[in-house]
Amino acid sequence: MDVDRLRVLLNQKQIADKVAELGAHITLDFAGESVVLIGVLKGATIFLADLARQIKLDATFDFIAVSSYGNSREQSGEVKLLKDVDHPMEGKNIILVEDILDTGLTLTYLKNQMMGHKPKSLKIAALLDKPSRRRQPIRGDYVGFEIPDEFVVGYGLDFAERFRNLPEICVLETDGNSS
Ligand code: IMP
Ligand code: MG
Repeated sequence: MDVDRLRVLLNQKQIADKVAELGAHITLDFAGESVVLIGVLKGATIFLADLARQIKLDATFDFIAVSSYGNSREQSGEVKLLKDVDHPMEGKNIILVEDILDTGLTLTYLKNQMMGHKPKSLKIAALLDKPSRRRQPIRGDYVGFEIPDEFVVGYGLDFAERFRNLPEICVLETDGNSS
């Protein structure tokens, strides 16, 4: 049987400091304007909740859902929209809020999808980035941490829906997969 082991990669203070930095950056970039934070369910919810409180602007929330990895760690290559935004986005400053940029397939799909709503601007905020895994040439506008190619959980990120409630971001080491 697999034994899960968690190794802390980013602690609560490191995350909080970085989220405050990203919020301050967004606040400056959109001074005098309103923004819509669009969270990608479910992984981005905790990041969005913390980031939103560091953005000192007129802000609203919306959420979208896409098909996920299921219980596997690998991206199937196919992204499907399961839930669209609830409100019209035409003329809005959209910030897509995502937990992690991995292959880039999800955000490439969502970016194209959201452009169809004719926003005024469209930016990407991702707490984590695994640039070495990229299969689509996409980059985040507000990126928290670049991390190595390891599977991480916590602070919203899951493995088979578990571990989202961990306050830290941890590498999930499974027997046979650890050094
Ligand atoms: P992408 O389409 O490959 O960029 O994948 C993005 C999505 O994959 C994220 O929203 C996460 O749900 C999931 N994902 C990618 N890497 C990890 C990881 O290390 N841990 C947990 N989920 C991940
Ligand atoms: Mg996700």
